[in-house]
Amino acid sequence: MIKIENLSKIYRVGDIEIKAINDLSMTIEKGEFLSIVGPSGSGKTTLLHLMGCLDVPTSGRIFIDEVEVSSLSPSEVTRLRREKIGFVFQEFNLLPVLNAVENVELPLRYQRVSGRERRRRALEALSRVGLENRAYNRPTQLSGGEQQRVAIARALVTQPVLVLADEPTGELDTANTCKVIELMRDLNRETGQTFAIVTHNPMVADYTRRIVTLRDGSIYSDQAVEEKELACEDGDLGI
Ligand SMILES: Nc1ncnc2c1ncn2[C@@H]1O[C@H](COP(=O)(O)OP(=O)(O)O)[C@@H](O)[C@H]1O
Ligand SMILES: [Mg+2]
Repeated sequence: MIKIENLSKIYRVGDIEIKAINDLSMTIEKGEFLSIVGPSGSGKTTLLHLMGCLDVPTSGRIFIDEVEVSSLSPSEVTRLRREKIGFVFQEFNLLPVLNAVENVELPLRYQRVSGRERRRRALEALSRVGLENRAYNRPTQLSGGEQQRVAIARALVTQPVLVLADEPTGELDTANTCKVIELMRDLNRETGQTFAIVTHNPMVADYTRRIVTLRDGSIYSDQAVEEKELACEDGDLGI
């Protein structure tokens, strides 16, 4: 699904160079369910943005489904992103002038899905994160946790083959964190969608099947995890 070769990303701020990603290589197979952990500033967000074609590396190569991203034109990169990737931003990036369901519809609009079908699928995605009753609220009328769940619904609504999520449960309580992980894991099992989830939360990492730990922009460890069953308490996400 993703092959990364000798990837580096250097930020220059004045005279200072920050190696956010430092000669990193890894492969993610189709259907994996993995977490990326590590201390703050270790390069997790930078790596996820590079994988999601939201940023360009300083050096190194990224292949998505065997296609080298840097060989594509900007419009081809945009198309690849819209067709294959769902991204949950650490800061949500919801549009404040749109309500929840309109935000979730946006990626379907880019895919030219018809209005009625768009609304149906967006409402269904909102209901999967327990927010069908908040569909017509704008982001400012929602709590941080609710905004985060809208951002998750928006990433999942196109049923992308690759979901990249940056701290997707950072604003959620334990019950809702569990439900979100359960939702993602069910989707991974049912549809074979690939998930890479950046997290600070050991519980989240523990329920993935592979934990990649970053330190100073490099891979510090890469471990397989034994699969465990989830037992969520009742949260807002129902059941
Ligand atoms: N746009 C930027 N300009 C300069 N430095 C940046 C920028 N984005 C990230 N960094 C730096 O790169 C390093 C990795 O950041 P980041 O990927 O956000 O880490 P994490 O998500 O693990 O907290 C940090 O030292 C951070 O300060
Ligand atoms: Mg981050």
